[in-house]
Amino acid sequence: MTYNVKDIKLAKKGQKKIDWAENHMPVLLNIRKDFEREKPLKDICVGFALHVTKETAALVRTLRCGGAKVAITSCNPLSTQDDVAAALAEDGINVYAWRGETTEEYYENIDRVLDHKPEITIDDGADLIFAIHSKRPELIEGIRGGCEETTTGIVRLRAMEKDNALKYPVLAVNDALTKYMFDNRYGTGQSTLDGILRATSVLLAGKVFVVGGYGWCGKGIAMRAKGMGSSVVITEVDPTRALEAVMDGFRVMPMREAAKIGDICVTATGDADVIRKEHIGEMKNGAILANSGHFNVELDVSGLDELSIDKTNIRENVERYKLKNGRYVYLLAEGRLVNLAAAEGHPSEVMDMSFANQALAVKYIADHDLEPGVHEIPKEIDERVAELKLQTMNIEIDILSERQREYLSSWKEGT
Ligand code: ADE
Repeated sequence: MTYNVKDIKLAKKGQKKIDWAENHMPVLLNIRKDFEREKPLKDICVGFALHVTKETAALVRTLRCGGAKVAITSCNPLSTQDDVAAALAEDGINVYAWRGETTEEYYENIDRVLDHKPEITIDDGADLIFAIHSKRPELIEGIRGGCEETTTGIVRLRAMEKDNALKYPVLAVNDALTKYMFDNRYGTGQSTLDGILRATSVLLAGKVFVVGGYGWCGKGIAMRAKGMGSSVVITEVDPTRALEAVMDGFRVMPMREAAKIGDICVTATGDADVIRKEHIGEMKNGAILANSGHFNVELDVSGLDELSIDKTNIRENVERYKLKNGRYVYLLAEGRLVNLAAAEGHPSEVMDMSFANQALAVKYIADHDLEPGVHEIPKEIDERVAELKLQTMNIEIDILSERQREYLSSWKEGT
């Protein structure tokens, strides 16, 4: 076992955090019990590039209970919870991650995970898969498959698949209903506001809150910002989503207009260059800028630098930029995922479903021989996660009667 973490002495604190998370992840713990009995991953090496959080630690421990050997690094230089990484290391997991990695260190840590020759990979953003294909292709032969956690990663993998560049099978965990409808919406909604509030402690009521993108993440952020009393403005490029935002009661306008009136502007599109230099130059004095998309490409941070004559760190995760036009603009968490860099990521209850899908997807890969390419999560996995979550919430639902089942499968009954 090897590790590289910030401070192993933080392990006790991290262990308490992991215990807290596990107490709020009953679906994953239910799966863990089966794994303990059946050992479906016996001696299989699983390599992770996923935010090293207390919830991820619960997933790592579940896979280990199933017999897996695990090596893990983060998928973002700012998202590692150092106490959790220390706890994992002390518990015998190969972990290479700390908060504040340079880009070089980030890729070195990915290399350290790959040194373990993983047979199954778990990615959040596809950096591990990309490193394997571009730098360590000799590993592909020994890989049974991978799992991808996030929309951005799926988009990237589908582009690889289209170019015939994806050489092993990957399950699109993000695309499970029990993942994106909950994690992307309620998880991102809550954790993004959590990150903004921990960083700034500003009042949200009465603020103009601009959300770039009305996908599942953008919807969640908009819903929660509205709930806190902000006047929410949406920017979109997709006409259907824009229409949906209008009918959900939000103002919709192009970023060039929204940027002029936003007190807080957050991106969640998965695309680059959403808030650009020309937008930043038009922003109000005191505007707060944050990103909740996977990569730090949505806000033009170098454009912000070019527009500025001074940059000062004034609080943890808050940089104040003095623009040449005399106004101040505040950038949170260097434009990286604000919910993980300035807060603790999504709450455990929602990661319970995401990581239950991950655990079952890893088992599915171990049990099946899949063709290279991006694969949907089997419906049985999705349904099992939904059923288990309801059970653990003590919620009962109705069951179709025989007559109802027949009605649904017949086409002869009409008016
Ligand atoms: N992505 C968003 N929130 C997360 C969390 N709490 N743990 C791991 N990945 C996450």
